[in-house]
Amino acid sequence: MVSCFRKTVFPMAFEQKLSVARAAALAAGEVLMKYFGQGVTQRFKGGQTADLVSEADVNAEQAVIRVIRENYPHDAILGEESLTGTDPQSPQLWIIDPLDGTTNFLHDIPHFAVSLAYYEAGVPKIGVVWNPAMQDMFIAVAGQGATHNGQPIHVTPDERLEQTLIGTGFYYDRGSMMEATLGVLADLFRENIHGVRRFGSAALDLCHVAKGYYGAYFEYFLSAWDFAAGRLIVEEAGGRVTTARGTPLPLAKSSILASNSRLHAVVEAITARHHERF
Ligand code: IPD
Ligand code: CA
Ligand code: CA
Repeated sequence: MVSCFRKTVFPMAFEQKLSVARAAALAAGEVLMKYFGQGVTQRFKGGQTADLVSEADVNAEQAVIRVIRENYPHDAILGEESLTGTDPQSPQLWIIDPLDGTTNFLHDIPHFAVSLAYYEAGVPKIGVVWNPAMQDMFIAVAGQGATHNGQPIHVTPDERLEQTLIGTGFYYDRGSMMEATLGVLADLFRENIHGVRRFGSAALDLCHVAKGYYGAYFEYFLSAWDFAAGRLIVEEAGGRVTTARGTPLPLAKSSILASNSRLHAVVEAITARHHERF
């Protein structure tokens, strides 16, 4: 069993909700691991050329919903696979991405996660990101910091682009949004960054900013369930999260820029400029 259960630093106020969030993420992780590496059936989602979904995504979401409903029958739930229409401003809202990194999962790459967040009237309170294949648990509670497998984590102190690594992701678009992402990467390389990583899970990318692996991470199109948990984990680790234009991040489809705070303005200048292309 992972060490994330050894120690908690979280307050009574969210203790119960946090333990439900953790239990739900673990339940979904168990479902995912039954399918992982077994060649599950996949299909393309609503017309997007490379946007894949499988039975694993759907059943993992049901596992999360079951645990939440058992404990909080009146809370609202926004879930990528079955409950997409829920009001994001609900007073008590759970936001689920049952499998972030589906493409990795379907190619047998053990880099994927269950992402589960709890919000109150649009304000993040709890974020849990669980990679069951690597036994990595990232948790944040508002005002109480962020942890990785029970240990506190912090963003990197990097101050200049030439000291840092940048994470990114490509939406399923193969047109101007993809070109804009490539344009940002070219500009960042001209600034002598150490390198770029595209690991294929936005939720884990955000955790990697929180953990101090990347100085910044950006992507031009995510849904609320992709970043709902990870954004709190970054903020609680001392980082900053906005849209790629530097405006406040809405709880809706959006671009995203997450950083260690210090590098935010310099990366934002580049991501905002290329955002004008689409
Ligand atoms: C995707 C992953 C990927 C990101 C995509 C997301 P999914 O989520 O987070 O890293 O680049 O934009 O849609 O489809 O695997 O849940
Ligand atoms: Ca996702
Ligand atoms: Ca997903």
